[in-house]
Amino acid sequence: MSLPGSPYLARAGADLQLDGCSLDELAAAYGTPLFVYSQRAMLDAVASYRRALAGRPHLLCYAMKANPSLAVLQTFARAGCGFDIVSIGELQRVLAAGGDAAKVVFSGVGKTRAEMQHALQIGVRCFNVESQGELEVLSRVATAAGRTAQVSLRVNPDVDAGTHPYISTGLKGNKFGIAHDQALDTYRRAAALPGLQVTGIDCHIGSQITQVAPYLDALDRLLDLVEAVEAEGIALHHVDVGGGLGIQYAGEAPPQADELVTQLLQRIDARGHGHRELLMEPGRSLVGNAGVLLTEVLYLKPGATKNFCVVDAAMNDLMRPAMYQAWMAIEPCRQREGPAPEWDVVGPVCESGDWLGRERALAVQPGDRLAVLSAGAYGMSMASNYNSRPRAAEVLIVDGRPMLVRERERFEDLILRERLMPPP
Ligand code: LLP
Repeated sequence: MSLPGSPYLARAGADLQLDGCSLDELAAAYGTPLFVYSQRAMLDAVASYRRALAGRPHLLCYAMKANPSLAVLQTFARAGCGFDIVSIGELQRVLAAGGDAAKVVFSGVGKTRAEMQHALQIGVRCFNVESQGELEVLSRVATAAGRTAQVSLRVNPDVDAGTHPYISTGLKGNKFGIAHDQALDTYRRAAALPGLQVTGIDCHIGSQITQVAPYLDALDRLLDLVEAVEAEGIALHHVDVGGGLGIQYAGEAPPQADELVTQLLQRIDARGHGHRELLMEPGRSLVGNAGVLLTEVLYLKPGATKNFCVVDAAMNDLMRPAMYQAWMAIEPCRQREGPAPEWDVVGPVCESGDWLGRERALAVQPGDRLAVLSAGAYGMSMASNYNSRPRAAEVLIVDGRPMLVRERERFEDLILRERLMPPP
């Protein structure tokens, strides 16, 4: 089977390599579990969006929840990207990585007053407001601070993105966004409130979307609103279509970013909105296929009904299989000859849901290393310390050379904020 994901992932004989680096050697050098990313793959992904956006007013805001490691943020900041954030912690990361607050859009259904104050003070480009209640609070916070908050309303276009229910966000039943039929009223209110400047409209219909059609449906719904809003004399500068473009985990064939953007721009032009700035918030599609998770085989447990391959990475390192039953490819770092029985690849965490892959045909022995592919997005960012497991280290391959960009956590890090009770 060919390797899904990054074109930088290839076999040199038996050896699996990312961007020319032997993954088995990296695992030996840095230990496991280990995330390894190719910076080149990330920059290629940006370039694909940019190819189609060239000559058009636009801003690519990397949805950093996908992978907020500082070196990853630096990579995108240096490439001129803005950022889509959902917390002040994320804003602080952007600043720590040298990102530009003026290119930051602040999303999320539950922004606190303190977060609004902080973001206003730093000067983010825009608040993506998700409810009438949030709008009122933002107006009060901005007025009290003597500042003007730039506001976009996140509209729920009620379209089906055709993806997993947990990562589908643009349907009526979701907690996200302002219902399409209430959006016009909310814009009127936004225009009337002090401390606010209406500047745009946004949506985000879901994640791991593998077709263009839901985007075009959502865009049409947004542009209908733009026209209705502007008919009332409220000017909208930008249209933000959110993120969500899928990547390859198995046999999916999502559109290339440039193909998606080209079709969006065609629709925008056809409807006479070509002068507007287009914002996008891609997360997974910029980093997902750029990374792998490396793990070592600890034990093989052949059984009557199932064979278990116990590895040293677990659901705390990579939540996606346990949480969404996500299928992620698993490949030996060094292929060996011999029979390849089916294994459930499981971690050491004390949960039956702790698995990385099920029924995978693998020729493996204890001590071998495996790579979970397409793990650059929502891997490290969703990792936890469950079972008091320190989080993995991260290596970024820059110009063909590996660079340790996050040390493996130590036990001391885990208990840093804890206090022992005084002696009895
Ligand atoms: N913009 C907003 C407002 C979002 O909520 C998200 C993702 C994005 C952009 C970026 O979406 P992307 O391009 O990465 O699909 N943990 C899940 C995915 C959760 C996505 C949450 N929102 C997973 O591992 O599949």
